[in-house]
Amino acid sequence: MKKQLIENKIPEHIAIIMDGNGRWAKKQGLLRVAGHEKGTIAVREAVEFSAEIGVKNLTLFAFSTENWNRPKFEVKTLMKLLVSSLKKELPTLQKNNIRLNSVGNLSTLPDKARAELEEVIQKTQANTHMTLTLALSYGSREEIKRMVRRISEKVKNNQLKLDEITDALINQHLYTFDMPDVDLLIRTSGEQRISNFLLWQIAYAELYFCDVLWPDFRKEHLFDAIYNYQKRERRFGKTSEQL
Ligand code: IPE
Ligand code: IPE
Ligand code: MG
Repeated sequence: MKKQLIENKIPEHIAIIMDGNGRWAKKQGLLRVAGHEKGTIAVREAVEFSAEIGVKNLTLFAFSTENWNRPKFEVKTLMKLLVSSLKKELPTLQKNNIRLNSVGNLSTLPDKARAELEEVIQKTQANTHMTLTLALSYGSREEIKRMVRRISEKVKNNQLKLDEITDALINQHLYTFDMPDVDLLIRTSGEQRISNFLLWQIAYAELYFCDVLWPDFRKEHLFDAIYNYQKRERRFGKTSEQL
C-alpha cells in the first residue's frame, strides 16, 4: 500500500472524526459502549499506518464538548476506556517514536483520566516521528471563545495593539498553537458534518467522508482516503494554471 502513495504528497496533518461506534454496536445487538471498545482497534490501525507512511500530525476527535450530554453510563465508560487505552498504548507510542498531545478543555475531565493523559504526554514528549493529538472535551466554538477572551485581555492590558491581531496571532491562542493547518479531514459512518471540530484549522482542508463505521475502519480505508486526497488539486483560491 505504502508504495502506491506519492511520497512527497503525504498530508502533513490528518484529522479524523471517528464516528459510528454506537451504530456498529447496535447492528451487532450489543450495547453502545461495546462499539467504543471495538473502536480502540481502529485507533491503533490509524495511528500505526499514519506513522508508517510519514504523516507528521494525526488528530483524533475522541470526545466533544457536546458528548458530555450523553447518558452518564456512556460518558463514564468512555472515560474509563481512555485511561485503559492510554496505559495499554504507551509502549506502542514509544516504539514508534510518537508524541502524545491533547487539545480541549482538559479541566473538565475526571481527575484519573487527566492524570493518565498528562503522564503519557510527559513520557512521550521527546518523541519526534509523529504527533498524535487527542481532541478530548473539545469544541471548536469553545476554543474560539477562549482565544477571543485571551486576546481581548491582552488588548485591554495594553499588551497588544489591534493591528497586531493577525492569523498567526490567532493561531497562537488556539489549543492547536503548535500544529499546522489540517490537510485532510476524514469522517467515518456516512455523516457529512463537522460537529464543532477544528473550524478555524480546516479552512482549506480536503474533506473525505466514508460510510465505514469507525470500529470497522482499517489501514486500507485510511489508504483509500489518502490516495483520493493525492489525486485532488488544492488551489487555495488560485487558478490551475498558477500552480
Ligand atoms: C463516535 O461514535 C464516538 C464518540 C462520539 C465518542 P458514536 O458514539 O457517535 O456512534 P454513533 O454515531 O452513535 O453511531
Ligand atoms: C462527533 O461525533 C464527536 C466525536 C467523534 C468525538 P458525534 O456523534 O458526537 O456527532 P453528531 O452528534 O452526530 O454530530
Ligand atoms: Mg456519532
